[in-house]
Formats: sequence, structure tokens, C-alpha cells
Amino acid sequence: MEPIYEGKAKKLYTTDDAEVLRMEYKDDATAFNAQKKAQFENKGKLNKAITLLMYEMLEAKGVATHLVSDLDEVNLLVKRVEILQVEVIVRNLAAGSFSKRMAVEVGSEFKIPIVEFSYKSDELGDPLINDDYAREMKLATPEECAFLKEQALVINEVMTAFFLECGLKLVDFKIEFGKGSDGKIVLADEVSPDTCRLWDATTGEKMDKDRFREDLGGVMDGYEEVLARISKVLTK
Ligand code: TMP
Repeated sequence: MEPIYEGKAKKLYTTDDAEVLRMEYKDDATAFNAQKKAQFENKGKLNKAITLLMYEMLEAKGVATHLVSDLDEVNLLVKRVEILQVEVIVRNLAAGSFSKRMAVEVGSEFKIPIVEFSYKSDELGDPLINDDYAREMKLATPEECAFLKEQALVINEVMTAFFLECGLKLVDFKIEFGKGSDGKIVLADEVSPDTCRLWDATTGEKMDKDRFREDLGGVMDGYEEVLARISKVLTK
């Protein structure tokens, strides 16, 4: 069966239900707009498991997601949505491209979280945009941009508190949203160490994809530790 969409980390397949897609998590890892590539055994499995638990946790806190149900080791069933081509990034501490762009020390705390939009385009390297770009490029309306920002801040609050319980500091993350056939915009894509910077709350040790980006080693050990901590908190 051919996927209807293949991204860098996931594939999407149709199912018997026109409103439901199967999302397969791959073992592929890329960084710096796919200039750096690798495969990690179990990455798909770990990111699927982490996303499932995070979506269930978020749903329980009132955040709508495109999750339908768990399927198997590397697959989730998700509601068919049209992904908005605006990636939403929330930053609690300076890191990554923010630190680079603004020459701000990694780990500096923001008084109020920063919300950033980028245009989901591999060709252009996901450039930073604002509401006006989104409007003129017909990526999202001003009302939708306001909703994305508001939702992103709610999701940040919920996830920051949850990860803290797991002994993890949520430094920053990227999320995507999708529009259903009913017009409703919900959280979509994934929530995993590929898309969140997570530091050990005590030691500051990096537990996420920065281990791959920065060649720190033990990439899957970090992801496994994140999953173990999330599972532990959720089964308490
Ligand atoms: P950045 O500091 O490189 O802009 O990344 C901010 C956050 O977004 C970080 O948690 C990693 C995540 N991210 C993605 O999920 N996909 C991407 O393509 C990029 C560039 C970042």
C-alpha cells in the first residue's frame, strides 16, 4: 500500500474510514532541514508511544487533538485533517535557532513564553513568519493565527506542568494544527523528543533530538528515558 503522504519522520495511509488515516512513525531522523540524516532502531516505536500518551494527557486537560486511537507498535489512527502550513513554536528558555539568531545565551529564561510561526516548507527551510505573512500567503487567517497562538500557550502550560512532574524542563517545542472536514482546528502531527527540547530538571541533561543534532550520543536512551518517566507519572 502506498502512503498518501510521506514526511521526514512519518507516513500517512488511508483506511476503510474516509475520515480516518493511519499515521506510521518511521525510524528516520533528520536535522538541519535534512542535511543530517540517520536511522535509529525503535525511534518510530518510541515517538508513537510518547505522542499517544501526550495526546491522551492533553485531551484529558481539554485540548482537542486529531488522535482517534492507538493501533500497533508504530501506528496511530488519526482524524483526517488538512495540516495548516504554519508551524507553531513555543519557547520558555532560549535555545536552538533563537539563541543563534539573537545571540542570547542558551538557557536564559523568558518572563513570558515566546510564540513563533514558521512556514512549513522544506524547500525554503521553514522560514520564520508572522501573522501578516500567514494572511497574505493564505496559510491562515488572522483569526486562525490568534487561535493558534492562544492554543499553543494553553498547550505549553499543560505540557510544562506535566513534564515538570516527570522531572523534565520543557525548553521549547514545535506543534502543528490541522483542520477537519467540520472546520474545527485541532492539534495534529506529533509531540515527541523530536519536536520538544526536554532537559533533566535537576542536571540540565538534554534528553531530546539535540543529542542527535549535536552528536552527543545515546539518542534513543534519551527518548526511552522520556517515555519511562511519562509512563511512570501517568500510572501513578
Ligand atoms: P529551533 O530552536 O531549531 O527553531 O527549534 C525550536 C523547537 O522546534 C525545538 O523544540 C525543535 C523543534 N523543531 C521541530 O520540531 N522541527 C523543526 O523542523 C525545527 C527546526 C525545530
